[in-house]
This record gives sequence, structure tokens and C-alpha cells, in this order.
Amino acid sequence: MAQLWGGRFTKETDQLVYQFNASISFDKRLYRQDMEGSMAHVRMLKKQGILTGEEEEQILKGLKGILADVESGALKITDRYEDIHSFVEANLIERIGDAGKKLHTGRSRNDQVALDMRLYIREEVLETDDLLKGLLNVLLRIMEEHTETIMPGFTHLQKAQPITLAHHMGAYFEMFKRDRLRLKDIHERMNYCPLGGGALAGTTYPLDREYTASLLGFYGPVPNSMDAVSDRDYLIEYLSALSTIMMHLSRFSEEIILWNSNEYQFVEIDDGYSTGSSIMPQKKNPDIAELVRGKTGRVYGALMSLLTTLKGIPLAYNKDMQEDKELVFDAIDTVKGCVTLFTGMLDTLSFCKERMRDSARHGFTNATDAADYLVNHGVPFRDAHGIVGRLVLYCIEQKKALDDLTLEEYRAISPVFEKDIYEAIALETCVNKRLTAGAPGKASMEQAIRSCREYLEA
Ligand code: ARG
Repeated sequence: MAQLWGGRFTKETDQLVYQFNASISFDKRLYRQDMEGSMAHVRMLKKQGILTGEEEEQILKGLKGILADVESGALKITDRYEDIHSFVEANLIERIGDAGKKLHTGRSRNDQVALDMRLYIREEVLETDDLLKGLLNVLLRIMEEHTETIMPGFTHLQKAQPITLAHHMGAYFEMFKRDRLRLKDIHERMNYCPLGGGALAGTTYPLDREYTASLLGFYGPVPNSMDAVSDRDYLIEYLSALSTIMMHLSRFSEEIILWNSNEYQFVEIDDGYSTGSSIMPQKKNPDIAELVRGKTGRVYGALMSLLTTLKGIPLAYNKDMQEDKELVFDAIDTVKGCVTLFTGMLDTLSFCKERMRDSARHGFTNATDAADYLVNHGVPFRDAHGIVGRLVLYCIEQKKALDDLTLEEYRAISPVFEKDIYEAIALETCVNKRLTAGAPGKASMEQAIRSCREYLEA
């Protein structure tokens, strides 16, 4: 056991206590951020005359050496150390001697870990954003290819009105675009440097917190030192954004699972993204979509878990906060894996246009348009609704679609119908007359696609 704080103690920590307390098994992930933070701290200490130029040089050289050796695999981060901070400091002292003992001047592990985690999450926020951008590019490609691919739109999982595949994908485009905006907001709010907060009350050394913050690419220091070491709101915000991304992915997965079922047959998942059954030779299962849907619960769990952990913690630092790491790391890994695999699955998905169109033709998706036809011929909407309702009932009895009825059959129910009713309720008409902004009509959709493209290229 290598500890930073033995002086005040008269006996060794119990082995089980040591293990329960140690965080190295998971905070070793922060090794690079920990050393980058230390380098900035040391440069600031030198600028402020707290360290000499020679000490600064030795420490920087030592840290760079440790970083290079960890990255090459020559130096292993082992459980011999309590946490990543102890690992770095112990190795530094081993390498450069006494100068290494000055690294922790004017700093506490409380502001140090707060910094490491912010540096780490700041990068992850950008990486999550980048993965979402990849997903948006695939969505846009599908939208551009399918402005004329007609499918049924559903409400209550009942066929409602005809739409296009471009329109359906466009809805997801907007959701994931908002997810990116949320990440951007989080980045803006969290980009302040906690270093210099000390244990909780700052320090008596003349630190230049602005300088350290600017060296590390932050907008400035976190204003209050107690808040600096205690704030984990940005993790809650990030987990919340990740949960929303998963919620969107899960809804989308659910649709792909339905569409891929024998009953729908709207899509076929590529062989590379499906799996078979050990017993039923005919099976090709949508496991990736199901796993994405399933893993959503795990990310929500991380959010609930951290909210609960934080709710009763008095100011300032308490060890409870160490619990932020494993669950945030797990949520990040889960979401990155899900977005990556989902994007690949979507990119290789084939759409069965004939099946989609055929499905839209059945189920009276053009009934609203038949009512609108009557309205355009002077019938009040509520009466038109009743007339078409009776027509639909008649069709169900006759096992016919609205398009299959003869003009005589139409006129038997309302004499307002003329032979242009067929044109008025054709699927293409139903879709392309829907030209309100945001609707599936081709002209509207092309406008929407243009703004999506501009957004992605900006
Ligand atoms: N491992 C700790 C954490 O993750 C680092 C800070 C420890 N500070 C302390 N006073 N024990 O939160």
C-alpha cells in the first residue's frame, strides 16, 4: 500500500478498509488528465515564484516521462496505490527525488480530482457530440434518398396518415440535433477550472487561478472554492443528456424491431448487424436494436444513482463523491457503444419500399383526405367526417380500400363525390399536398432537408 497521508497514523490501515477506500481500479482512467492538470499547476507555481525554474523543469520532465511510459505500457498502473493521484506523485518522487515532493504545494486531492474529472468529461462531451454528428449524417443521407418513399404514419400504433420515410427520419434528425445542443450547453457551463479551490478554502499561497485555468483551456476559474470541490452538477447534466440520447435511440430501436418483424417487413437488418438462434434455423434477430433499448435502463440508472448520492452531502468534499466515477464511466461507455453500433446498423439497413407503400394503401390512411375533399366541395368538416366514417365502415364490410370503391358506391353515401375523388385520395396526392412547414409533402421536405444540410455543414 502506498499512501500519501501516513504521518498522523500509528498503525496500518486494515486491508479491507484500504481496498474499500481505494479508487485506483477505476480512476486510473484519469491518468492523462491528472498529469496534464499537474503540469499546468506546476507552471503556475513557477510563474508565481513558489517553485524555482529548475524545480519546474524537473517536475515537468518527470511527469512527461511517466505519461509516456504509461502510454507505451512500460509503466503499469497497479493497485499498489490508493488512487491515480498517489500513483503519479509516488512515481514522480521515485524518478526525480525531492523536487517531486513539491508537486502538491497549494493543492488538495479535492480540487485535483474535481479538475481531472472536468477535463475528462469535457473531452467526452465533445466525443459524444461527434458520434451524434455521424448519426445525423446517416439520417440525412436516408432522408435525401427517400422523399418519395411512402409509408404509413401511425398514432396509437394504428395506421393514421401517409407520410414518407424521409419525413419519419427527419423527426429523429431533430431529436438528435437537440441532443447535440444540450451537449453544447453543458460544455459551456462546465468549462471552468476548479483547481485552486484547495481542500475547500483555497490556499495561503499566491496562486494565479486565472493562469492555470487558461493553460488548461478553461474560460476561467470556478468562482467559489467550496463549490469548486463540491460541484458535480455538470455530471448530472451530462447523465441527463446521455439518458435523453438513450431514450431517443431506444424509441428508434423499438421501431426498427417492429419494422423488421415478419408482420411489418418494412426493413431488413443487414446480416452484419443481426444474430441467429441456436435452435431455430430460420431466425435473424434484431439483437443490436434490442440491446440499445435494453441498455437505456442502465444509463437512466446512473442518473438516478448520482442524483441520490449527491442529495444528502453537506459542503464541501465528502468521500461519497468518489462514487461519481464508476457510474459516469459506465454510462459514457454504454452510450458511445450504442450510438456507434446504432449508426452502423442504420447505415446498412435496407428499406422495403413496396411493403411500406402497400401498407400505407391499406388501413384507410387516406380517409382524412377523403373528408378534406368533401370540405373543399362545401361540406362542413364535421359532416364530412361522418360521411367518410360511413364509407370506411362500408369498405370494412366489403373488404375493400377507399380507392377500390366505384363512383356509384361513393355517391350512394354522398352525391358530392365526383370522379376526381380518386386523384384526391391517391397516396402521392395525400403526401404531397401536405405542404405546411414541417409536413411530409415533397416541397416542404426538400426545404427541411436543405436546412438539415446547412446545419450539418455549418
Ligand atoms: N478518490 C477521490 C475521489 O474520487 C479523490 C479525492 C480524495 N480526497 C480525499 N480527501 N480523500 O473523490
